[in-house]
Amino acid sequence: MNFPEGFLWGTATASYQVEGAVNEDGRGPSIWDTFSHAPGRVYRGDTGDIACDQYHRLKGDLDLMAEFGIKAYRFSVAWPRIQPEGSGPVNQKGLDYYRRLVEGLHERGIEPMLTLYHWDLPQPLEDRGGWTSRETSERFAEYTGIVYGSLADSVRFWVTLNEPWVSSWLGYGVGVHAPGYRSISKALAATHHLLLGHGLAMQEMRSRGNSGVHNQLGITLNLSPVRPSRDREPDREAARRVDGQANRLYLDPIFRGSYPEDILDHYSSENDFSFVRDGDLKTISSPIDFLGVNYYMRHMVREDAAGTDDVFSSARVRVVIPHGAEKTAMGWPIEPEGLTELLLRLDREYMKLPIYITENGCALNDYVDPEGCVNDEERIAYLEAHLRAAHEAMAGGVDLRGYFAWSLLDNFEWAEGYSKRFGIVYVDYPTQRRIPKTSARWYAGVIGRNGLED
Ligand code: FCB
Repeated sequence: MNFPEGFLWGTATASYQVEGAVNEDGRGPSIWDTFSHAPGRVYRGDTGDIACDQYHRLKGDLDLMAEFGIKAYRFSVAWPRIQPEGSGPVNQKGLDYYRRLVEGLHERGIEPMLTLYHWDLPQPLEDRGGWTSRETSERFAEYTGIVYGSLADSVRFWVTLNEPWVSSWLGYGVGVHAPGYRSISKALAATHHLLLGHGLAMQEMRSRGNSGVHNQLGITLNLSPVRPSRDREPDREAARRVDGQANRLYLDPIFRGSYPEDILDHYSSENDFSFVRDGDLKTISSPIDFLGVNYYMRHMVREDAAGTDDVFSSARVRVVIPHGAEKTAMGWPIEPEGLTELLLRLDREYMKLPIYITENGCALNDYVDPEGCVNDEERIAYLEAHLRAAHEAMAGGVDLRGYFAWSLLDNFEWAEGYSKRFGIVYVDYPTQRRIPKTSARWYAGVIGRNGLED
């Protein structure tokens, strides 16, 4: 099963999850520093203070990627390294670090994909309202201009935001992520200002022009097909609401320049959307060059008028795990066919743009065995099944250009701390030793033959 020539085989990480060095070279505090240090927020009180220490171990990690023939690396820039205050003065040492990272990738023939925002908002901006405030969208565009001005000559792929749904709903809606609010009204305001920030950042980058490396600009969304658990109208309605909140609330403004009416209606008692100003949707729907898709699971839901404790309670639903479904260590059902379904839907309903799967992977209870190996056969099965599903979508006409395994390394898994391991490389945290798992060798084989064995 072959993939097209030039298919971009990558791995992904994010700044706060791997860098550590939170107080070095002028970096300011982010909302994740504050959140992880607040008691009771993150599993066992874990923080990203040290994480994988990639800030100091950059060369080793780059060499590791080269060893496995990885063709692309998706990383994110920590805004508080670039602007410790979230606005104003630029910290040159922060820019220098990412310049070293990008040059190190090029020296090894690895294509960089840069994400501008993977959740580490500078704390001073949160103190002024964070993403519930329009000011943050404007500051984000300025910050984008600084990073783009510095690196556009050597980074081709630019992702504005990673998963605005997670930032809004987990961060401001149900509070399991930084900054930890529990307010539907705030989540809706954050959604709009994140999307506006994306649009303004797109305009900022476009206005600076193409640097000659043929810059490709896009956004990454986490998307999940949604289906009812029972074949009855209230459950179908429930599925429609979750699809609206999780998928259409982001896809519609970006690709159609409008918010989904049914979802505005559903949330009208929470918020009157007066934060949407004339021209905003035009900005948000500024043309992009590609869509990044993070796929982890499908959602199966049923109506639940009381709402339950999970993230979709505001949609008055309960999430149901399909009977007999295999699950990852996160408890997420393994449903590779959902990826085919998702990609075909995007192609049919939204756009014909190139798509990159910017994240896909699974957490397992990995451990180092007495021989010193981490044998993660289940991860190989997971990745392989999803690659087959992606291939099937390509056969159905989807213009898929690349795939990034989440993650290169085990890392700080947000509210789960270090308890959940997603890497194809194991990290022994106390020694920071990297131990490639069996899946890393398998992935190297896939990349080498540009496809899967039949
Ligand atoms: C995604 C995040 C990424 C990682 C994976 C498991 O939602 O973008 O940082 O935590 O989930």
